Amino acid sequence: MKKFLYLLFAMTIAVGLNACSPDDDPVNEPPTEIPENPDDPDQPDNPENPNPDEPENPDPDDPDNPEPTTGKTLIVYYSFTNNVHTIVSDLRTQIEADVIRVEPAEKGLDYAANNYAIGSAQIQAIRNNPGSASSYPAIDPIEVDFGQYGTIIVAAPLWWSNMAAPLQTFLFNYGAEMAGKRIGLIVSSASSGISGVESDAKRLIPDGNFLTPSLWIRSSQTSDCHSMIAQWLKDTGYTE
Ligand SMILES: Cc1cc2nc3c(=O)[nH]c(=O)nc-3n(C[C@H](O)[C@H](O)[C@H](O)COP(=O)(O)O)c2cc1C
Repeated sequence: MKKFLYLLFAMTIAVGLNACSPDDDPVNEPPTEIPENPDDPDQPDNPENPNPDEPENPDPDDPDNPEPTTGKTLIVYYSFTNNVHTIVSDLRTQIEADVIRVEPAEKGLDYAANNYAIGSAQIQAIRNNPGSASSYPAIDPIEVDFGQYGTIIVAAPLWWSNMAAPLQTFLFNYGAEMAGKRIGLIVSSASSGISGVESDAKRLIPDGNFLTPSLWIRSSQTSDCHSMIAQWLKDTGYTE
């Protein structure tokens, strides 16, 4: 009987320990600035992943990273609250590149108002039907001669774990023309991991030669982005 009681006790402890797996670590709870409300069924899913995209100290000679190609570099970005704009401004001090800033056709929208309602609706529309042009918000017309570029750096804010909708529109329109080019990805988020944005980029530029790793800069790191960008340019083999 004593033996049975010990066994029962040991099993209770084991079950209790299992319930406290690291996945439940409250330390990784998102900070309040993230517009995530998991209790609201009307809001898009946010597959919050605490730390999925931490770069793994890649080897600069990594054969995964495509060789430098000839041709100029193009930076294409969208920025609502100017964090990505600040990042791109710094990047431009470190490399020679042409720059395109994507602008939504509809002016004056506040994507963050009412608990990010407009941004949320735009992302949900794309998720619902990613293959249809009508799912993507209209952007101002842009003329690009992609032929002159060997490398394209896409700099994106993260919205609801996805790439911000207006930049998805640009890539939906032009991603096929980026086939065979080196594609670098820089993502700014409050704290959410960037794997969903990477998936969007790969879906929209299916034949791009993606540089690894992508660069994730949290909004709180924006003012310190210079050294992060410099290191990323080395890590990806962009600069020696
Ligand atoms: C509509 C919308 C949705 C957002 N969703 C998230 C999110 O799910 N997780 C997160 O960490 N940050 C989220 N953010 C915050 C932005 O990713 C972050 O502030 C980023 O730095 C914005 O870049 P920008 O200033 O260039 O627009 C969201 C911002 C907006 C406007």
